[in-house]
Amino acid sequence: MIEISGLTKAYGDTLVLDGIDLSVADAQIAAVVGPSGAGKSTLARCINLLERPTSGSITVRGQDLAALSGRDLRLARRQIGTVFQSANLLRRLTAAQNIALPLRHQGVPDPEVRRRVGDLLERVGMLHRANHYPSQLSGGQRQRIGIARGLALQPSVLLSDEATSGLDPDATRAILDLLTGLRDDLGVTILVITHEMDVVRGIADQVAQLDHGRIVEQGSVADVVRRSDSALSRALLPMPPAPDAEGLRTWTLRYRSDQVAPTWLSRVGRDLGEVAVLAALVERSGDAPVGRLTVGLDPRLEERRVVEVLADHGVAAEPATALRAVADERQDERRARQAEPAA
Ligand SMILES: Nc1ncnc2c1ncn2[C@@H]1O[C@H](COP(=O)(O)OP(=O)(O)O)[C@@H](O)[C@H]1O
Ligand SMILES: [Mg+2]
Repeated sequence: MIEISGLTKAYGDTLVLDGIDLSVADAQIAAVVGPSGAGKSTLARCINLLERPTSGSITVRGQDLAALSGRDLRLARRQIGTVFQSANLLRRLTAAQNIALPLRHQGVPDPEVRRRVGDLLERVGMLHRANHYPSQLSGGQRQRIGIARGLALQPSVLLSDEATSGLDPDATRAILDLLTGLRDDLGVTILVITHEMDVVRGIADQVAQLDHGRIVEQGSVADVVRRSDSALSRALLPMPPAPDAEGLRTWTLRYRSDQVAPTWLSRVGRDLGEVAVLAALVERSGDAPVGRLTVGLDPRLEERRVVEVLADHGVAAEPATALRAVADERQDERRARQAEPAA
């Protein structure tokens, strides 16, 4: 369990983190997303104590890390493993030697180091690359060695700062499977910092969006996706683009409930007549499905009736034209703001 409360970090007069409250339960994966410069990496460096927070507390397993110093701080640091975007492996050392490094620093005896490194290589699926140098490994393989090194001291928390950025989809998948395995098999609490929404949907239990040093939205991934007009929701599960269907009225649908039955569409068809599916994105998040669809319906149907019928199935419905009008309006507002002279 990691609990961050009232965390601020200032560099001189610049406040980079501005009162962060975030808690992640044991064996959960939390994602932190946000634009470049939002403060994500600073948050990571405060959590692993590479940076001193300006104020606030970071509690891991009941111990406030921000209040520690000296030997206690060094001991506490071991509880937190970190993986960075470029795994930062030492070029002159083999994969196995890189993983062994934190163990050697701790003075762990040789036979024990060999055993632990072997276990770690196996856990990340890299036993066959033990004696390769970083330059002989792919980006995804280097990241796996970086994760193994991050796990060497058996931390209870693993921080991953853009660990999958720049990896191809297969390598990304392999890393994500590895992280979920760590959560499920070893009970590691994982904080994933990423700008890739697929990554969040793929593995995170909860998500927090950081903007200008503040958390502007957070919740379980499934709950956020089911929310209506939220920017994070639309980013996590974007509305698939769809052509208009001739002779039909276009509607956008969103799973609002976590109880949407797999057969809802055929049942809706019985009440509303033919439903043309123009675009759809439906997948599981947590234990329940989430989804967004664009469909075409008979234009003679009364709006209120469509909304009611779909609501009965846990699905929110809006005529696409209404959404488009809102989007246009927002764009107009943005243009107007941009046109204003700077204050
Ligand atoms: N050591 C530092 N000194 C001064 N400003 C910093 C320092 N580190 C980061 N910043 C500033 O803090 C802000 C957030 O940076 P960062 O945490 O790297 O964002 P992100 O990882 O979300 O892209 C940026 O405006 C950056 O310039
Ligand atoms: Mg960063």
